[in-house]
Amino acid sequence: MQPAPLDPVREADAPGQPEPPLQATLRRLEREFAGPLGPAAPEAGDGAEAPVYVTRPFLPPLEEFEPLLREIWRTRILTNGGPFHRELEARLAAHLGVPQVALFNNATTALIVALRALELSGEVITTPYSFVATSHALMWSGLTPVFIDIDPDTLNLDPARIEAAITPRTRAILPVHCYGRPCDVEAITAIADRHGLKVIYDAAHAFGVRHRGGSVLNHGNLSVLSFHATKVFNTFEGGAIVCADPAMKDQIDKLKNFGFEDETSVSGVGLNGKMSELNAAFGLVQLRHIDTALAGRRAVDAAYREGLRDIPGIRCLDAAEEGAANYAYFPILVGPDHPIDRDALYDALKRDGIHARRYFSPLISDFPAYRTLPSADRRHLPAAAMAADQVLCLPIYPDLDPGTVARIIGRIAASQ
Ligand SMILES: Cc1ncc(COP(=O)(O)O)c(C=O)c1O
Repeated sequence: MQPAPLDPVREADAPGQPEPPLQATLRRLEREFAGPLGPAAPEAGDGAEAPVYVTRPFLPPLEEFEPLLREIWRTRILTNGGPFHRELEARLAAHLGVPQVALFNNATTALIVALRALELSGEVITTPYSFVATSHALMWSGLTPVFIDIDPDTLNLDPARIEAAITPRTRAILPVHCYGRPCDVEAITAIADRHGLKVIYDAAHAFGVRHRGGSVLNHGNLSVLSFHATKVFNTFEGGAIVCADPAMKDQIDKLKNFGFEDETSVSGVGLNGKMSELNAAFGLVQLRHIDTALAGRRAVDAAYREGLRDIPGIRCLDAAEEGAANYAYFPILVGPDHPIDRDALYDALKRDGIHARRYFSPLISDFPAYRTLPSADRRHLPAAAMAADQVLCLPIYPDLDPGTVARIIGRIAASQ
């Protein structure tokens, strides 16, 4: 049976007309997904403030998505590099200013494929201060993470420490553009070139970030983006590898499709990393709104910087160059001069319905799968340990209203 046609002027808005089941479902989803990840945001009752989460996924008007859904229903092309997939790869490459984009179902599989495409084995130097997927991708690839400390100012891998960690087994460096702030890409490239190492950037946070006039994604051998629901640009779930070399893109495309060369031959140990047509179509609609979303984030970032400036013991990371940042996160460091420590501030905000997050605590190197590695010893990672103890990521998303930002700042200022 064909679903009832979707009318942009919704039937439910016409009094006395029963709403067809598909429309009713879409309306319910629209209401529910206006909340934080997954379930509906609890409604505030009795004059209480509604809870505020660290992020709230950006969604385009549902009506804009409907024609693309109809097209999928018409063509019945659901996946395997269909027309929306191809169009999104081309549009993203143009938007980001990069040579090529290979879409994935998420950044974790993209990281695993990136490591496989570079045929790595042995040790990879990386940061302990990241989301756990960064190191998990190494472990799934049979590689050994070697943790080195971060720069206490940028919270990115400290290039000055890389050379001391290089051994005869080192093959690559896996830095993270943490919170979307560029690593010291020049220093990292110089070290990698000197020692013949590959560089894969975990650029999960770095959609649209620019560095010295070009995309930050153009540095290193490969860069990996995440389009997860929490990210600046989301396709519900999704990710991508950015690469310069067409032969490498070809290899990546095969690896994300089980290693198929053609109908009957398989050339490598691939996996299923493909992005579906549904996610790709959604990405095309999202991309129309990315500038608006960034402008909203930029305003929130500016309001926090202004309001938090004179609060004792609160440090914001340096403001990024205008037009270069994506305002993906708003981390603050709660130092010893603040009347209460980071965890107490986290609890105080939570009591007021403000759900900040301690990204990234614990360190990756603290988790059971990693803590027995020699490089996981916190005594060698003092800046990462400091960040894990002090950082709190405050809510930031395009339509976070100024009143709520002021309330959050006020609550931090009232710490005692
Ligand atoms: C730094 C970093 N790397 C990798 C990932 C994994 O991304 P995905 O959820 O798309 O697999 C994330 C997700 O948040 C991340 O923050």
